[in-house]
Amino acid sequence: MLLCAMMAFSGNNFAANTPDDDPADTKYPKGAAIYKAKCVACHQLNGMGIPSAFPPLKGSDYLMADKKRAVLQVLNGSHKEITVNGAVYNLPMPFQVETHQDAVDVINYVLNAWGNKGGTVKIEDVKDIKIIR
Ligand code: HEC
Repeated sequence: MLLCAMMAFSGNNFAANTPDDDPADTKYPKGAAIYKAKCVACHQLNGMGIPSAFPPLKGSDYLMADKKRAVLQVLNGSHKEITVNGAVYNLPMPFQVETHQDAVDVINYVLNAWGNKGGTVKIEDVKDIKIIR
């Protein structure tokens, strides 16, 4: 119920201050599309997540510390206790994408969306990640 309300809210692209004019949307269009289809329900359109439930991607020290880990996470999911910007999260994140290319596309988007300056990850750097289902 709460999640539905949040999703409806996330779908409102016409409110002021939405990140629709974010340069990352133009630079990483495929990643932006994957983000908006799959990640917004939890991490929100503004990348801030939901306190105590879904960690932020905007300004996340955890994301910036290890890009390859982020690719692994969207390919295989994640369920462990993690600390992001000093706050603890431990809900499971289900896997989100089926291919290394989709994973690289969406991670390169989040590394650069909302003012993030995280650089990029290359497919060559992550092709050894095994997809586990
Ligand atoms: C069902 C909710 C949900 C969805 C959908 C989801 N995530 Fe997550 N995400 C989480 C949770 C919960 C965690 C914390 C996982 C843990 O504790 O192991 C997390 C953690 C992360 C992290 C590492 C922590 C951080 O804040 O830097 C990254 C990066 C991430 N998600 C990216 C994504 C991307 C990209 C997508 C879309 C392709 C996505 N997530 C979709 C729930 C979700």
